Amino acid sequence: MGKLFSISILVLLFISTITPSLAKDGERHSFLQSQKPATPLVRQKLSHLRLFWHDVVSGPDPSAVRVAQAASANQSATGFGTLVMIDDALTLGPELTSKLVGRAQGFYALASKEESGLLMSMNFAFTEGKYNGSTVTILGRNTVFSEVREMPVIGGSGLFRMAQGYAQARTHSFNPKTGDAVVEYNVFVLHY
Ligand SMILES: *[C@@H]1O[C@H](CO)[C@@H](O)[C@H](O)[C@H]1NC(C)=O
Ligand SMILES: *[C@@H]1O[C@H](CO)[C@@H](O)[C@H](O)[C@H]1NC(C)=O
Repeated sequence: MGKLFSISILVLLFISTITPSLAKDGERHSFLQSQKPATPLVRQKLSHLRLFWHDVVSGPDPSAVRVAQAASANQSATGFGTLVMIDDALTLGPELTSKLVGRAQGFYALASKEESGLLMSMNFAFTEGKYNGSTVTILGRNTVFSEVREMPVIGGSGLFRMAQGYAQARTHSFNPKTGDAVVEYNVFVLHY
């Protein structure tokens, strides 16, 4: 982490030293300016978020809907080639009626021919208190029948600006009849 930031600072320093020569050639590129970090780097925080993610595929008002599938997806035991758009509730407790703190918006795709392996691509969009409007972006592989699945946190916005970290998902409950699932997410992020 620290190493990464020192590299970015070196890059910024390098860019600021080459800018004058660009200007001399009359090719000043005004779209890029070096800038000091707004917050001292030592102020970076580590946060742990524990949430329950509700994937409701059944009933009259599903929060996960299939939007595309390969012609062969229904012949594949793993549903390979299916794309599901989600706007899943994120709550503090495992019940859907417990306190809502945000929504997981994005999609998951059935990306494995061999097992139930998803590509997850979603923003956790928070709506609660000072986190209202802030997001955390998760992009990773989710083999849903594994005990613990780890996915990278690749960014964030608002209070989670420049977030980096990882999420661990554990299935809390899965209804094989309806396909509805509740998954516990433990998200660890470094951010400002
Ligand atoms: C797969 O779905 C297509 C289109 O809905 C249908 O025509 C086909 O019979 C299905 N195949 C199987 C094996 O269910
Ligand atoms: C979150 O922000 C939106 C838009 O600014 C606002 O409409 C909403 O009332 C806020 N929610 C909470 C719980 O503060």
